[in-house]
Amino acid sequence: MNILVIGNGAREQALAWSILKDNRVQKLYLASGNGGTRELGAIAENIPIKPTDIDALVKFAKEKKIDLTIVGPEQPLELGIANRFEAQGLNIIAPTQEAAQLETSKAFAKAFMRRHNIPTASFVTFTNHHDARTYIERQPTFPIVIKASGLAAGKGVVIAMHKGDALETIHAIFEKRLFGEAGKEIIIEEFMQGEEASVFIITDGTDYKLFPSAQDHKRIGEGDIGKNTGGMGAYAPAPIVTPSVMQKVESRIIQPTLRAMREEGTPYRGFLYIGLMINNGEPKVVEFNARLGDPETQVILPLLKTNFLDLLIATNEGRLNQIDMAVADKVAATVVIASKGYPDNYTVGKVITGQCHFELACYTDVRDDVMIFHAGTKFENGKLYTNGGRVLSVTAVADTLEESLKQCYEAVAQIHFEGAYFRRDIGWRALKKNTVQV
Ligand code: AMP
Ligand code: GLY
Repeated sequence: MNILVIGNGAREQALAWSILKDNRVQKLYLASGNGGTRELGAIAENIPIKPTDIDALVKFAKEKKIDLTIVGPEQPLELGIANRFEAQGLNIIAPTQEAAQLETSKAFAKAFMRRHNIPTASFVTFTNHHDARTYIERQPTFPIVIKASGLAAGKGVVIAMHKGDALETIHAIFEKRLFGEAGKEIIIEEFMQGEEASVFIITDGTDYKLFPSAQDHKRIGEGDIGKNTGGMGAYAPAPIVTPSVMQKVESRIIQPTLRAMREEGTPYRGFLYIGLMINNGEPKVVEFNARLGDPETQVILPLLKTNFLDLLIATNEGRLNQIDMAVADKVAATVVIASKGYPDNYTVGKVITGQCHFELACYTDVRDDVMIFHAGTKFENGKLYTNGGRVLSVTAVADTLEESLKQCYEAVAQIHFEGAYFRRDIGWRALKKNTVQV
């Protein structure tokens, strides 16, 4: 089989790595991939096509007789990559442009959840400054949450602690285009208390399979302070997602969502990421993403015992009900190494030295492993260079979270480049829970 993976982060490296465990793959292309692709072996190749260049991707997939395409990031989904591929008879694991609105339009997602009684924060939608201001003036309590409706690379959310902050925020959105086009429409919603976690599924539109739950670390600073990033580390499973919580997520969120998407004529196929707030065992949706998460993918895929390519093929053929999903009874953690200055300005082109290759032995039942998934890296003239904000994602699988984190940090200590930054406290919430329990 010939496979095309779209994207260039550590998530896409983890997708490619998982697919390549199956020896039916003859060729795997990454558009546009990164410096870690050579670690995937001779059958993997980067192609210089941007994930947003849908015309070129369609042309490439036809020319190279790609049997299956997998999409990592959200931008191609918003551009309708699934519609375009399907119109040409090309197989792709991705929701259509209409179905991807669960992520690409928060106004759509919130209205959908309201229509179908899916638990989420109560909200109001605004398209002009005056109405939003009048609404905020009338609010008796703060904080409230102000969000851009459109895609904003994870940066379109402000938690306004006081009325003054809220008024300043909407002024910046409507008068100074704080969120650009994404902020033409905004959502103001109730602030939810609780702890966040994420649940991921793959679905063929009718049936679905659950991946392990995960917890991300969005802030740049230790102790979850400072600016939001794409994610600085993660672990799976998330202890807060107990079997009882997972059961509620399935019956109150996943099943009604898939059913309603079918009934509304926009069946949802592909990966779905359900960002949750869990308070006293009650889950509510913070957001949907129409894809897998990064860095969560780097912890959920290494736990999978089911053949990942089989799962993708069954999804494509609409027969997920025939697949047994098996997940290892282990814990995976990942630590992201970023360039100094990320998520603001940073420089690229620093030489990376040390142990930066994938553990090709992969994960087996009998030994614990470390995998180094590349993100912002570039391989040139025999050397590896930094080429982005998030540079590497170092994953370990072990029996306990403590052990997997220990292995991650031991591996991280062997990787060097000027200005390398990583959080030393990945997993702190779950570790605190373990301490409380004993
Ligand atoms: P989102 O892009 O919608 O996932 O929001 C980004 C982050 O803002 C989330 O991961 C939460 O930490 C926080 N957040 C968003 N909505 C709410 C809410 N209604 N209540 C509390 N925190 C929220
Ligand atoms: N880790 C958050 C995301 O992928 O959106």
